[in-house]
Amino acid sequence: MKISIVYFSLSGSTKMLSQYIAEYLRSEGFSVAVNPLKTSDTGTFLTNCINAFRKKKVKLEYVPDIKKAEVVFLGSPVWAFNITPAIRTFLESTDLTGKKIFLFITYGSGKGKERAMEHFCQLVKSKGGNIIGKMDIKGKQVHEDFKKLKEIVVQCLKESQLINSSGQ
Ligand SMILES: Cc1cc2nc3c(=O)[nH]c(=O)nc-3n(C[C@H](O)[C@H](O)[C@H](O)COP(=O)(O)O)c2cc1C
Repeated sequence: MKISIVYFSLSGSTKMLSQYIAEYLRSEGFSVAVNPLKTSDTGTFLTNCINAFRKKKVKLEYVPDIKKAEVVFLGSPVWAFNITPAIRTFLESTDLTGKKIFLFITYGSGKGKERAMEHFCQLVKSKGGNIIGKMDIKGKQVHEDFKKLKEIVVQCLKESQLINSSGQ
């Protein structure tokens, strides 16, 4: 079973969460490819907010190939009550038909995180993805809260029959 993790992270919290998720999945015996999205199209806080709000696309250094992945974990910080331009750009150029998708977002104050997740879900569904789980976590709390939140991942993998109660 091949799993891909695709995420964007500017200041490291979503990256840390992606690494924890990858560590857990590998401990369950899955083959995991971790793909950070990279772009030089970022600017000041305000510019980033405006671009996220306007659903702007950015130039990605590369578009990860997730064709062979049956399950894809997608991660983004919340920017201006939305997902980031980088993850939006990736999604708009990617076919998710037949793939099981788990979404995760990190946030600061928490303002707009529900709206951001809603947009994330809509976009993934419009690309044919089948959402099997989602979670949000305060960026500054990733290290402290991952143990608790890991249960959401475990539960969703069990429900999708990707692992059984004693592991894969
Ligand atoms: C441009 C920008 C806009 C943001 N907008 C929001 C927001 O609307 N709501 C929120 O809760 N946090 C917001 N944040 C905080 C980030 O979502 C949070 O710090 C996140 O964990 C950062 O992830 P990263 O370290 O992976 O880049 C924003 C941060 C930036 C840089």
